[in-house]
Amino acid sequence: MHLTDEDKRMLNGEYGDMVRRSMKILVTLGEIYGAERMLDIRNVHSPGVSYRVAGDAGLNFVKEASQSAHCKVLTTLNTMGIDSERWEEFGFPREFALKQLELSDAYRAVGAIPTYTCTPFLVGNVPLLGEHIAWGESSAIAFVNSVIGARTNREGGPSALAAALTGRVPEYGYHLDENRRGKFLFRVDTDLETDRDFAVLGYFAGKIAGREVPVFEGLKRRPTLENLKALSAAVASSGAVALYHIVGVTPEAPVREAVIDNNTEPILFGRREYEETVAKFMLSGDIDCVVVGCPHCSIAELREIAQLLSGKKVKVDTFICTSKHAKDISDRTGYTGIIEATGARIVIDTCPVLGPTLPKGYRTMATSSGKLAHYAPGLWKLRTALLHLEDCVGAALKGRWGEQV
Ligand code: F3S
Repeated sequence: MHLTDEDKRMLNGEYGDMVRRSMKILVTLGEIYGAERMLDIRNVHSPGVSYRVAGDAGLNFVKEASQSAHCKVLTTLNTMGIDSERWEEFGFPREFALKQLELSDAYRAVGAIPTYTCTPFLVGNVPLLGEHIAWGESSAIAFVNSVIGARTNREGGPSALAAALTGRVPEYGYHLDENRRGKFLFRVDTDLETDRDFAVLGYFAGKIAGREVPVFEGLKRRPTLENLKALSAAVASSGAVALYHIVGVTPEAPVREAVIDNNTEPILFGRREYEETVAKFMLSGDIDCVVVGCPHCSIAELREIAQLLSGKKVKVDTFICTSKHAKDISDRTGYTGIIEATGARIVIDTCPVLGPTLPKGYRTMATSSGKLAHYAPGLWKLRTALLHLEDCVGAALKGRWGEQV
């Protein structure tokens, strides 16, 4: 692999041991994946900040990094393990919370920006079409590669931090044109409107596409940002999709021929496929908790939730996950007051998957998130109803869901 003189200086330890180790990680990755050179980047989204995932090994690594190195490029932080403002009120275990705070402080000391969200593109980290970046967090990776058209591989905590400290990534995978072409073509032949609808499409396609690039065509209306956020999270969790294209919608796919071979046999996603997929997540009867905001809610979603809940009372624990940035705007506009007066809680910085597990005792959950619906049965043995946002609110108000309710 070709290294510039500056790369060699970093690798030889001229900028300290942590930069040397970071460069070593990146060069090793490049050699494994056959990169010919390194690329400059200006933008990192680091996924290593949940103590639940990083543990003491991650904590010690970042603390050590913070003593001698600093992020060279804009580096935002993914969702962490606690609500940094109300962790005691929400009952996060103290021992865990203190470790989490130590880890997030170490990331701040190394120069990362404490965004603590899986929607960095909603809080000011917005790369441009074709820009090379280093992002972690599967839903954000799928969104930024597909919807924005920036270029990232699936970075983990160590490789994202290494990229942040050096401003370099090896050129392989999704940085290269040839790996951004589609392998599976899905012909959508049913109306898709809500985030749940797009999550269902993502869940269906991810199961088939696995780690490959799916292409969607036939959408009858232009999706919203929130629709695409839901699709990105679902397609990256039922499969491991890091990039998809929607013909006529996403920037690299103005026409089908731009992203997939013309003779690719399409796979139908019609009403039957939709119903069969959604049926995996339907349950009737009592709902013990409702969780929305996976990926973290946008201000538009918080507005909608406030409108749906206004003046009512929830019957079951209802958690709405978002970034501090979105909640601050929600505070200002009065949405937070409306939502929390109903008994629902807005939780910032964290989510059930990256924080300590949901409180014990729940058996059933309603969510609008395909990603959460995918993980909940395995992580917490929860039976899950995958509902439209409006129906999640209905389930929160009644404590029940289903035809007979
Ligand atoms: Fe975000 Fe947590 Fe879901 S990181 S995508 S809210 S699992």
